[in-house]
Amino acid sequence: MYSIAVIPLLLYLTTQVWAMCPTRCTCYLDQKGRISVLCKDGGMVGPLNLNNVSLDTEVIKITAPEDNMNQLIMSPVFQSYKKLEEIHITKSNVPQLGMHFFWGLTRLDVLNLSQNNITQPLDHNFRGLSKLKELYLDDNRIISLPSGTFRYLHELKVLSIQRNRIEELTPRIFLEVGKLRVLKLSGNHLRELSPEVFKDVQELRSLECRGCALTRLNNEIYHLLPHLTHLDLGDNDIKTLNSEDLRDLTNLKHLKLDGNQLTAIPNSTFVYQPMLKKLNLAKNHIAKISSEPFTNAYNLTELDLGHNELKNLDFLRSVAETLEVLVLSGNHLKQHALKVIYEMTALKELHLADCGLADIHSPIFPPSLRALDLSSNHLSALQSEVMPFNLVELDISSNRFRGISEEVMILLDNAQVLKFENNMWSCDLCHIVPLLDRVNRSASFREVICSAPFAVKGKKLCAIRKNELSWCTVPSYPMSDADYFLVARDGKVGLMIAGTSVVLLVLAISGVIAALCYSRRHAAKYYTHEDQLAKEGESIFENNHSPLFCDGELSFKFPLDNGDKKISIATIDEIKKEHCITNGT
Ligand SMILES: *[C@@H]1O[C@H](CO)[C@@H](O)[C@H](O)[C@H]1NC(C)=O
Ligand SMILES: *[C@@H]1O[C@H](CO)[C@@H](O)[C@H](O)[C@H]1NC(C)=O
Ligand SMILES: *[C@@H]1O[C@H](CO)[C@@H](O)[C@H](O)[C@H]1NC(C)=O
Ligand SMILES: *[C@@H]1O[C@H](CO)[C@@H](O)[C@H](O)[C@H]1NC(C)=O
Ligand SMILES: *[C@@H]1O[C@H](CO)[C@@H](O)[C@H](O)[C@H]1NC(C)=O
Ligand SMILES: *[C@@H]1O[C@H](CO)[C@@H](O)[C@H](O)[C@H]1NC(C)=O
Repeated sequence: MYSIAVIPLLLYLTTQVWAMCPTRCTCYLDQKGRISVLCKDGGMVGPLNLNNVSLDTEVIKITAPEDNMNQLIMSPVFQSYKKLEEIHITKSNVPQLGMHFFWGLTRLDVLNLSQNNITQPLDHNFRGLSKLKELYLDDNRIISLPSGTFRYLHELKVLSIQRNRIEELTPRIFLEVGKLRVLKLSGNHLRELSPEVFKDVQELRSLECRGCALTRLNNEIYHLLPHLTHLDLGDNDIKTLNSEDLRDLTNLKHLKLDGNQLTAIPNSTFVYQPMLKKLNLAKNHIAKISSEPFTNAYNLTELDLGHNELKNLDFLRSVAETLEVLVLSGNHLKQHALKVIYEMTALKELHLADCGLADIHSPIFPPSLRALDLSSNHLSALQSEVMPFNLVELDISSNRFRGISEEVMILLDNAQVLKFENNMWSCDLCHIVPLLDRVNRSASFREVICSAPFAVKGKKLCAIRKNELSWCTVPSYPMSDADYFLVARDGKVGLMIAGTSVVLLVLAISGVIAALCYSRRHAAKYYTHEDQLAKEGESIFENNHSPLFCDGELSFKFPLDNGDKKISIATIDEIKKEHCITNGT
């Protein structure tokens, strides 16, 4: 009986929704069960009309695709829609809002008029919206806002006027919106924020002014905003930062000053911010950070210092027990500077992308680490001894890896996200077997593209079978390993015999090579033709000593060494390298 009664009711409700729907719009119940109308095809021209929109409608969304924007003029059509909770009219080139057009919408929570052509909103535009909580006017052409523009919006909590053309905030602009919590002003060329303006909004929790051409932090403003927890002043021209600037922001949790002109962070800069949790100082010119910049910042867990000019990381000791996320990408850091990271006992996520790293031979990664980004460096090998045990994510894309050792692959067997693309994978027996054995484990392994040997160049790893792998192409592992592969894995005796004869051949010419190596070692630097290597030369040479010189020089000058295809040549190469190591220093 119950269900019989319910079905017609449901049918009735749905037919109500569907019967009254403008052509080229969709009518539906949204996630909160509200009656909603969405018109998103664009091409609407002239005065806004709501023909066929049910009077029960609670949410109206009118928008358009980029290539078919609406050309709408506002009209007083909303008055009979007493149940409206949200109005979004966006991408519609609305030029102005009209007097009292939203009168009587006492249930309206959200008014979104982003991406229109509004130049000057006035107070009477918003009259009657006594319950409005969120107003979005982003991406219009607003030039100025008179004093008291929002004075009828007593309940307003969120005001967003981003990417307009406002150059100055008029005094008392925020008159009577004392409950405002979130203010977004990013993308207006304001240059300076006047303290006068913020007297009316002292409850603010979040202030954003990215790309506002600000030149300094202004304590007179923050003095009025003691409850601020989020401050975003990224992409401005702020040159200095010191503790007195932030003195009154004692509740601050998130601070973003990325994309400014900061050069140094002195001692005790954040001494008044015991709650500070996330700090973003990326994309500045910071070269110097004093040893104790985070005095009292007990709660700092995320620190972004990417794309600065850091050399010394000793300051990290002061947050070694709390920091969980650390971004150092884009700083050109020496191996010895990185050692301090090993002391960071709480660290879970570390970004060292684009740091000019050529080798990691001492322990850097603390055991707590779960996510590691090493992309866009010059790495060609990872040693299992320096790898953390419980990685969940590893990104080694855009390096110079030819292969990954079995030991490292075992450490990664429980990882969930692995990014391996854009390396110099050598799909041969020496390099690729550990990866090929696991090719079905993840999509990113299947997509690995071989760059050598010639026969499989450009092929995806998933298209390669183990029994078609060729012998080693480019030197990387010592001879004993190669032998192991030959005998133990595939038992191809013929190849082994080939290998043995090669050894004899090599013994014969190794003396010549050694002499070459020795005499040209000092000149080697000038032969390396890769810009990257030259730039990072210092650290590479420091880490790898002379073998790399030798190797680089010989592969450039030695006439035999252009064959990916010939087994014997490749193996000679390998011995060459070994020989360089023993003779090099
Ligand atoms: C309104 O609905 C009627 C009947 O469903 C339809 O003929 C008419 O074209 C619709 N008008 C608009 C503006 O959508
Ligand atoms: C307002 O509209 C714009 C443009 O359609 C949209 O990107 C944005 O998410 C909307 N904001 C809210 C809070 O719905
Ligand atoms: C926006 O308004 C200005 C005048 O205020 C007008 O010149 C311009 O064409 C309008 N833009 C669009 C896309 O309608
Ligand atoms: C910063 O503080 C440390 C420890 O208190 C001190 O050794 C160092 O000299 C200070 N640095 C500067 C630049 O004042
Ligand atoms: C911040 O750190 C202090 C001292 O360690 C602690 O008492 C407080 O609960 C922390 N606050 C937050 C929000 O984590
Ligand atoms: C991967 O899967 C394919 C197709 O399911 C299968 O032929 C191949 O043997 C598998 N490779 C490995 C290494 O398990």
